[in-house]
Amino acid sequence: MQAIVNVTPQWGIGKDNDLIVRIRTDMRRFRMLTTGNTIIVGRRTLESFPNGEPLPNRTNIVLTRDPAFQAKNVISCSDLIALRNAIMGLDSDSVYVCGGEQTYRLLLPYCSKALVTLNDSDIKADRFFPNLNLMPNWILTEVGEKQYENQTAFRFLTYINTDPLEL
Ligand SMILES: NC(=O)c1ccc[n+]([C@@H]2O[C@H](COP(=O)([O-])OP(=O)(O)OC[C@H]3O[C@@H](n4cnc5c(N)ncnc54)[C@H](OP(=O)(O)O)[C@@H]3O)[C@@H](O)[C@H]2O)c1
Repeated sequence: MQAIVNVTPQWGIGKDNDLIVRIRTDMRRFRMLTTGNTIIVGRRTLESFPNGEPLPNRTNIVLTRDPAFQAKNVISCSDLIALRNAIMGLDSDSVYVCGGEQTYRLLLPYCSKALVTLNDSDIKADRFFPNLNLMPNWILTEVGEKQYENQTAFRFLTYINTDPLEL
């Protein structure tokens, strides 16, 4: 599994159940990488999508503890065992952990890679991604060139987990 996320310099990822920074180039890259593959999101992130609907042309897995949860074209999982069964047999590189905070915190130990878009926004967040620079088993391996879109600067970073857990 790999995590994919867009963070501020403070590792902020969202506010009021919405994204705080939207970068078209980044969203296009997200779509390109995840289309045809599998994404895992928390129930709150699914609700934040347009009309609360799953993203098209990919398998959408949602984490929820609500046994009554039902949504069209979504596989729901209530725990890690259900999630393991849902992704069994898939190429692990084709499974993307796509947030939000609770979901990243739960699944990051099982991810072998994190694709981090680092933006320079100073907008205050109420949801955060763990600071990988403080985690000894996460190594920064690639730093993309600084790019600009409107008033926002950003870079694509790759971190590798040297000790991922088996799900
Ligand atoms: N910047 C980015 O790249 C990015 C990406 C994605 C999301 N976001 C942002 O992140 C924010 C949402 O994050 P969040 O932490 O509030 O919510 P979240 O992780 O999207 O969803 C949380 C929900 O997931 C379910 N859940 C959590 N742990 C679980 C477990 N162990 N087993 C089963 N279900 C579990 C629960 O659903 P139930 O309550 O139904 O039980 C929980 O309420 C939004 O602001 C969103 O825009 C940012």
